[in-house]
Amino acid sequence: MTIQSNKHLWKYTEFIENKSFSFDRNKILDSLSKEDIDDAYLSISRWDGYSATPLEELTKLSNELNLDKIYYKDESKRFELKSFKALGGAYAVEKIAKENRNIIVSTATAGNHGRSVAWGAKRLGLKCKIFISENVSESREQAMAKLGADVIKVKGNYENSLVECIKQSTKNNWKIVQDVAWNNYTTIPKYTMAGYSVMMKEIVSQINKNNISHIILQAGVGGMAAGMIAGVARYLKTIPIIIVVEPDSASCVLESIRIGTIKKIDIKRESLMGGMSCGEVSLVPWEILRSSVKYCISLPDDDIAKTMKLLGNSSFSNTKIIAGENAVPGVISLIASCENEKIKKTIQLNKNSNVLLIGCEGDTDEKMYKKLINQ
Ligand SMILES: Cc1ncc(COP(=O)(O)O)c(C=O)c1O
Repeated sequence: MTIQSNKHLWKYTEFIENKSFSFDRNKILDSLSKEDIDDAYLSISRWDGYSATPLEELTKLSNELNLDKIYYKDESKRFELKSFKALGGAYAVEKIAKENRNIIVSTATAGNHGRSVAWGAKRLGLKCKIFISENVSESREQAMAKLGADVIKVKGNYENSLVECIKQSTKNNWKIVQDVAWNNYTTIPKYTMAGYSVMMKEIVSQINKNNISHIILQAGVGGMAAGMIAGVARYLKTIPIIIVVEPDSASCVLESIRIGTIKKIDIKRESLMGGMSCGEVSLVPWEILRSSVKYCISLPDDDIAKTMKLLGNSSFSNTKIIAGENAVPGVISLIASCENEKIKKTIQLNKNSNVLLIGCEGDTDEKMYKKLINQ
């Protein structure tokens, strides 16, 4: 199969430029400090079973799109959790347990973050309470229960599960380990972002002194994107063009960048990209994203299953890559941008471009993965 030969146009919904763009390395490192970033790498790299996840090259795809290189950070190999989220929640649990070992931790989750908190709690022998909404699949629920967590199902959506988590945790004196920040709750979400920046540290040693010209980052509440941008500010000399991609049903970063202030989205349809189906960008990430992101793009769900399949059957690279629903929007937005001459020119994609994509998860929901690639 080739992209161009099958006449399928890859879909995007909206593409906008950030009118307030101005990359300020020092300002970014004021929001997430060099010390926090360095401490995360020092701690996580000492964990049992730690190794850098592979940085694959999608050589077949870069040939076809006429780009120099497409790097794909394959987080399906991250510990046994198969997602970059293993770096965030579990690290935050370790940080707060250093202050007090006698705690019960809690969190609300769409799946991957909760798995990381449960795993982090298990590593340290702590009890753990996980709140999920009825949208979270049974296999994700079971994965957290298997790690020893008490999983509590809440009626409604992710926000309802968070409200219930805060309510019960306050009553029972459980320590909330959330990846979302709100007023007076910023330290723990910062730890999760510092954990995510470990990916950037690994990438810097994997690119062999090559430059990265573009980086495409998925966003739910924006923690991963902001953690990676802090990593860019900390480790890279040449700053790439930074693009954020989101589901069109939950494009809270795009809508906030459009008006220059946080905008809450009313999610009317849950995206297949469940980890990114978030209605509001988190406070600390927003401070970083608001001026460092150059472009935002939103996508419908249409090309997700197809892209997972093409990565899985090595149509894009020489190796087979297991990519979950949340791992493919980078690839989709890159192909869609190359197919649109105006966007391609605007964002300066050409034969000298080295694009970094984050394959943020593998088959974290195995049942869903099988269903989608067999569609
Ligand atoms: C696999 C995966 N990718 C990306 C995201 C988005 O990360 P963030 O919410 O930090 O923006 C999530 C969130 O849960 C996720 O699970």
